[in-house]
Amino acid sequence: MILITDASEEDLDQIYKIERSSFDNPYPYSLLKAYLILANKLYLIAKDNQTVVGYIIGIIQYGYRGHIVSIAVDKSYRKKGIGSKLLSSLEERFKSFGVKYSYLEVDVRNKSAISFYYRNGYIIAYLRKNYYGMGKHAFIMLKNLYYKFLD
Ligand SMILES: CC(C)(COP(=O)(O)OP(=O)(O)OC[C@H]1O[C@@H](n2cnc3c(N)ncnc32)[C@H](O)[C@@H]1OP(=O)(O)O)[C@@H](O)C(=O)NCCC(=O)NCCS
Repeated sequence: MILITDASEEDLDQIYKIERSSFDNPYPYSLLKAYLILANKLYLIAKDNQTVVGYIIGIIQYGYRGHIVSIAVDKSYRKKGIGSKLLSSLEERFKSFGVKYSYLEVDVRNKSAISFYYRNGYIIAYLRKNYYGMGKHAFIMLKNLYYKFLD
């Protein structure tokens, strides 16, 4: 069974392993460690027994918007709903802190991630050119977390 819990220092080696196998330009270990403090309560892992199989990091900006800093799931555990579980758990944390919307940058070439976010309720808001370097563009995707119904 997959459990979602807060990340801690002892999970870092496994998180870093997933990070390196998931990204061409992985975050350094030191940054993943720093986020344990910077993203307190917004740094979650998915665990299969004692094995870390995925992680997500968020931060809150200006008190009302949630930024998804990073998400990755171990290759052999993908397409089982774990990424969606991590994302919705982070969104619930965001909401509990009063966040109104959540957003992220995604490489325009990362079709599987774009489709993943779209299925999870994110829309492409705009293009940020050269975000990852010259000629490497990002889409900004966002999702409203705050619904207010008028009577
Ligand atoms: C993006 C990422 C985190 C998604 O994680 P995941 O655990 O595979 O996500 P999910 O399983 O919730 O959803 C992925 C797909 O599997 C499908 N899926 C989910 N459960 C499934 C199941 N039981 N059987 C078959 N397919 C399933 C979903 O429908 C979804 O389809 P879609 O991508 O066509 O929308 C993962 O692909 C990853 O780590 N990528 C590399 C890092 C990366 O690019 N991160 C994003 C940077 S912005």
